[in-house]
Amino acid sequence: MQIKNLVLDSPFILAPLAGYTDLPFRLVCRKFGAGLCVSEMISCHGLFYNQPKTLAMLASADEERPVSFQLFGAEPEIMGKAASIMSSHHPDIIDINMGCPVKKVTKKGAGAALMATPDLARTIVREVVKNASCPVTVKFRTGVNAEELTAVDFGKMAEEAGAAAVTVHGRTWAQGFTGTANWEIIAQVKEALSIPVIGNGDIITHQQGLKLMADTGCDGVMIGRGALGNPWIFSNSPPPERIEEIIPAALLHLEYMEQYLPVNKMLGCLKSHIGKYFRNIKGCANMRKAVFECQDFSALKELVGKYSSTDQTDEK
Ligand SMILES: Cc1cc2nc3c(=O)[nH]c(=O)nc-3n(C[C@H](O)[C@H](O)[C@H](O)COP(=O)(O)O)c2cc1C
Repeated sequence: MQIKNLVLDSPFILAPLAGYTDLPFRLVCRKFGAGLCVSEMISCHGLFYNQPKTLAMLASADEERPVSFQLFGAEPEIMGKAASIMSSHHPDIIDINMGCPVKKVTKKGAGAALMATPDLARTIVREVVKNASCPVTVKFRTGVNAEELTAVDFGKMAEEAGAAAVTVHGRTWAQGFTGTANWEIIAQVKEALSIPVIGNGDIITHQQGLKLMADTGCDGVMIGRGALGNPWIFSNSPPPERIEEIIPAALLHLEYMEQYLPVNKMLGCLKSHIGKYFRNIKGCANMRKAVFECQDFSALKELVGKYSSTDQTDEK
């Protein structure tokens, strides 16, 4: 898959997930075969007003390249300025969030609310493209609601305004995360656009991702929740079922966390990532419980390491 001059080594892409797709998790997913990883959504205001927490979200490392930073906001001028600030951190792509249904975002006219104001959305895409030093992509939904499935026109608008690719999450704004992803609309957008189209929604195995591409003709697949605790989804081999095979991935993730995050400040978030590696795995009930009882990062790392050298097969 190719976005302008950027050639991806796999069409499987890690979706932006607020609270999850930080640098350590993106590095893990790249190692396991993701062709591109997208950051959590980053506020244009936070960048514009130089807020340290927002600027920290621009952390990256050469080994994760290519990386896409996702921007959200609803004021064209501030979005343009934020795109220019983002560009000074050299992302390979800037993605614009036009799909987030969370009230805190939509009540300010940003995220999925932009699907209801396509003229404003067009101005934003143009401003971001004008100020970005890399290709700009747009992530949106199938429409505002079941009566207004506007993804095809919205996608054409994004292409005309200068987007280099689009991602379609197969749900409407009104659906939030309920119901199932509508692949038919993804196929219609692909048919109507000349730029690459990435399909998204409910993919939980590599095979399903391949089927989404085959059924809709889309150029790439974006995976969100299906990648949590399961970076194997980016490779063609099935996810491991045995704890000994899972531990090295969890340890790699912990090492990246230690390298790049203020770990003890973020302990809750780290535990939730690590706990996900062991969900649905037979023999891991005690392990999951112990993960959530850890009081600090070194205890968490020690615990996971300990399980790599212990036979846990008698546990239920
Ligand atoms: C916890 C969580 C956080 C999310 N954060 C973002 C975000 O920051 N930006 C965005 O465009 N979408 C965000 N999404 C939507 C996902 O990128 C994706 O479109 C959606 O989850 C459907 O894909 P999936 O079924 O593979 O998870 C988020 C979803 C979840 C569950």
